Amino acid sequence: MIRKKQLEIILQKLDPHPDPVPELEQYMTPGDVASTLLCLAYSQGDIAGKVVYDLGCGTGRLAIGAALLGAKKVVGVDIDERALEVARRNADKAGVKVDWVMEDVEEFRRERADTVVQNPPFGVQRRGADVKFLRKAMELGKIVYTLHKAAPRNREFIENRVKVFGGKITKRVELTFHIPMQFKFHTRNIYRFKVDLYRIEGGK
Ligand SMILES: C[S@@+](CC[C@H](N)C(=O)[O-])C[C@H]1O[C@@H](n2cnc3c(N)ncnc32)[C@H](O)[C@@H]1O
Repeated sequence: MIRKKQLEIILQKLDPHPDPVPELEQYMTPGDVASTLLCLAYSQGDIAGKVVYDLGCGTGRLAIGAALLGAKKVVGVDIDERALEVARRNADKAGVKVDWVMEDVEEFRRERADTVVQNPPFGVQRRGADVKFLRKAMELGKIVYTLHKAAPRNREFIENRVKVFGGKITKRVELTFHIPMQFKFHTRNIYRFKVDLYRIEGGK
């Protein structure tokens, strides 16, 4: 199996979105966060030989990482065609096959996946976007790995939503997220903040 550090380096080197849009919260999952999420999922038996969906896949880091870790089939979904163009090139560069689908996650309907991985919009630009992704992930995946803001009130909110959607949180890991200055309203070179990685079982 590919090592965690190796995976982080490969994912970190994939091409970014050429012109990210703030409204879609188009920032990439940092390589270390992506490899932590994927290696945790791998260690739980949720990746190798499994059908994996990446919702809001952007330029493809999580989807490509899942394919590198031996997923049987990987589907990446994003609303933005330009992000998917980069994702396609990134997958070729990494030598893996992923099915890329351009669609709003709300409209995306397929048979249930074994595992959904996602770094959704946090709902900062569009209120409720995080919940929309969470609901869909739990509808589509037997197991879900999802990232959310780590503020205490948000934690309570996510726990509540997971219950309402019929699932159970089996793990929560706090991680540090760093994103480089990329939008007009950014005033610092780098933004660091805490995120929670959740493993969720059993949505409706
Ligand atoms: C935080 S970024 C994560 C990107 C990618 N998963 C990664 O790991 O680098 C959120 C992604 O969700 C996509 N997105 C936002 N709203 C969407 C929607 N309604 N349907 C599908 N994708 C959406 C954005 O285009 C963006 O690529």
